[in-house]
Amino acid sequence: MSEYKLSGVMFSEEQIKERVKALGRIITEDYQGKEVFLIGILKGSVPFMADLMRCIDLDVKIDFMSVSSYGSATHSSGVVRILKDLDSDIRGKNVIVVEDIIDSGLTLSYLKDYLIKRGPASFRICTFLDKPARRKVELHPDYCGFEIEDKFIVGYGLDVDQRYRQLPYISWVTTE
Ligand code: IMP
Ligand code: MG
Repeated sequence: MSEYKLSGVMFSEEQIKERVKALGRIITEDYQGKEVFLIGILKGSVPFMADLMRCIDLDVKIDFMSVSSYGSATHSSGVVRILKDLDSDIRGKNVIVVEDIIDSGLTLSYLKDYLIKRGPASFRICTFLDKPARRKVELHPDYCGFEIEDKFIVGYGLDVDQRYRQLPYISWVTTE
């Protein structure tokens, strides 16, 4: 197994805080007078979800899903297995899927079809990070924290082999 080396700070705690606040303001404006139903994708979205929901000044409900995409530690295969489904019905709800990062787009593209079949009133995607250069399918987030280049990111929920999720800032790893 290869070893990963932690690099520097790509986005500081302060930069993350400011950006998440801004996203919360935009979502609050876009959904004025409505309730939003945030669906966090475990486990990577946990810090982002916790911060974002507190920056949205609307009626907010939350739920989580856990999915696994078969593949290696750093590359998903596009075959998605649902490990934990929603606890409640999303029919008629304004769904916003909250994700840590979009890479190939395969996971969210699958989830989008899966969730839209359940009849939400609206469906949008909010990702903290986006690596558009790596996309394998047409998929655009409606809200995005930062667009980044092709690096393997860790911190603020993101892991490599389950490590570094607890870092309060965004970093990346290199293989030695
Ligand atoms: P996609 O299906 O290729 O878009 O992959 C999405 C999932 O792969 C994300 O939700 C992450 O869990 C994981 N992933 C993709 N890129 C990274 C990364 O740079 N760091 C950590 N996890 C990543
Ligand atoms: Mg994820």
